[in-house]
Amino acid sequence: MKVFNDVLDMQSYSKGLRLKGKTIGFVPTMGALHEGHLSLVKRSLEENDITVVSIFVNPIQFGPQEDLDRYPRDLEGDRKKLESLGVDALFLPTPEKMYPEGFKTYVTVEGLSEKLCGAFRPGHFRGVTTVVLKLFNIVKPTRAYFGLKDFQQTLIIKTMVRDLNLDIEIVPCPTVREPDGLAMSSRNSYLSEDERRGANLIYLAMKEAEKTLMESMSFSRAVETLNEHLRKSPHVREIQYASLYDPETLEDLRDVDVKIYGKKEAVFAVALLYGKARLIDNLIVKIGGRE
Ligand code: PAJ
Repeated sequence: MKVFNDVLDMQSYSKGLRLKGKTIGFVPTMGALHEGHLSLVKRSLEENDITVVSIFVNPIQFGPQEDLDRYPRDLEGDRKKLESLGVDALFLPTPEKMYPEGFKTYVTVEGLSEKLCGAFRPGHFRGVTTVVLKLFNIVKPTRAYFGLKDFQQTLIIKTMVRDLNLDIEIVPCPTVREPDGLAMSSRNSYLSEDERRGANLIYLAMKEAEKTLMESMSFSRAVETLNEHLRKSPHVREIQYASLYDPETLEDLRDVDVKIYGKKEAVFAVALLYGKARLIDNLIVKIGGRE
C-alpha cells in the first residue's frame, strides 16, 4: 500500500492512473476505522481498479466546544486493516498541508446544511463539503463511497456534486450495526460500559416507531412513539432532534398527513447527547407498502 502525506504526490499518482484509464474508488474517513468504514472500502475494492482511502481529522468541521482534541486516533491499527484488505493507497495529509496560511475558500450547500445536525453544529457541514471537495480534487476519484449512517452528510455531498457538476459518482452504503443494533461509530469508544449497554436504544426506538407507522399510518403517532422510547433512558441528556423526515428535503413530516405525502420513503433520524457521547442514527422506511 502506498502512503502519501503530500498533496502534490497524491495528486500526481491519481493523475497518472486516470491517464491510463484506471477507475479510482475513494473512501474519505477520519480514521479509528471500524467495520462500517471497512464496508465502504470493500465495496470500492470490488467496483474499481484502484482504491484510495484518506484519513484526516478535519479541524474545520469541529466546533470550538467539540471533540477535535479527543477524537480517537489509531493510525497503526488503521494502516494494518487497510493493508490487509488490499487498499492501493492511503492519503494522510496534515492540517497545515490542507489549510496553509491564507486559506480563504469554503463551499456551502445552503438549506440542507442548516437542518438537523446543522442546527446544533453551526459550520459543521461547511467544513465537511469544503474538505470533501478538496479531497476530490486531490484524489480525482471515479466513484466515492459514503455511509448512510451519516444520512444528512451523504445527501449534502450528493447535492454538492450535482450542483457543481463534479464528474464523480457518489455511492451511498448501508449502515453497519453491532449485533444489538447500535450503529458503529468511532465515537462509541467514548461510552462507559453501562452507557454502551443501553446505547442501542436509538435503533430500538426507531424500529418501534416504524411499527407504529405501519399500524397507524400516522406520522405524528410514529414520532410520538420514537420520542417516548428515547425519553426512557437515564443516559439521555438531551434529544437534539428525533422525528421523521423527507429524505430529499429533510422537511420534518410529523405534522404532515400521510395521505398527502407523495413519496415512497421517509427517514427517521435522531441525534442525542447520550452519556459522554453525541450519537446519531437513522432508519429509512417504506411508506404503506406502496411500491
Ligand atoms: P467518518 O466519521 O470517519 O466516516 C467516514 C465514512 O464512513 C462516512 O461516509 C460515514 O458515513 C461512514 N460510516 C461511519 N460509520 C458507518 C457505519 N456504521 N456504517 C456505514 N458507514 C459508516 O464522515 C466523516 O468521517 C467525515 O465527515 C468525512 C466525510 C471524512 C469528511 O471529513
